[in-house]
Amino acid sequence: MNFLTNILHLIGAGAAAYFSARHLRDPLTRPNFLAAFQLAESGSVPFLEALRKRAQAEGDEWLAEKLARHASDEMRHGQIFAHALKQHGKQVIDFKQLPQEKSSKQERKSPFFEAYYEGYSREDIKPDRIDWLVFLASTYILELDASKDFARMAAVLPEDEPRSRSLKQGILSVAQDETRHAGYLYEALQRRLPQVQVDAVVDEWRTRKAKALLAMTLDLLQKGGKSRSLVTDGALVESEVDLPVAA
Ligand SMILES: [Fe+2]
Ligand SMILES: [Fe+2]
Repeated sequence: MNFLTNILHLIGAGAAAYFSARHLRDPLTRPNFLAAFQLAESGSVPFLEALRKRAQAEGDEWLAEKLARHASDEMRHGQIFAHALKQHGKQVIDFKQLPQEKSSKQERKSPFFEAYYEGYSREDIKPDRIDWLVFLASTYILELDASKDFARMAAVLPEDEPRSRSLKQGILSVAQDETRHAGYLYEALQRRLPQVQVDAVVDEWRTRKAKALLAMTLDLLQKGGKSRSLVTDGALVESEVDLPVAA
């Protein structure tokens, strides 16, 4: 990581951490924030499952096993956020019931992922054809940072209120899993590449992450920190998300 990337990373991470802490602490914005995490975590499960099958088909038992555990962890993470949401009397909205234009692909484009995977088409990052090194390195960076972000988020939650105390415990356990995910992804890179190339590819994705964080932050600032509502009151419904990877 060069000096500029490092600065960009710090600015982006600082701004993202500011928005995260503010939204999590404020009872009014907390449900929407929890919903976004529920969608991101659960949304990564089919992607990881498909990758597990592909690794198995290619004879990489080691990776297939790690991916199986990863997928089940992300499923559990989604449930932790869904449970917290339920404790707030909320649930994720049913995207299928929204008017067509509101749930269009256009609106769900994420400035972060657009920038992070710049140069790769949606087809390029589908699980049946994504380059393994692209998957391993890009996800390694996301998992590593997620583990730190979740630990920071847990720290802002107060312990004197039961709902927030249990969410804090949940988020801390998520943070531990993300650290383990980052660990196996890095090991997978080391199994495929000499260390000097591992360093280079990790560096490349660190730079991409810094740029993507900045793109996301600028987008958030333009919207005044507001995002559309992802929650509603009532019973649990099925939801549809389209995220290539989530921590
Ligand atoms: Fe996760
Ligand atoms: Fe993860």
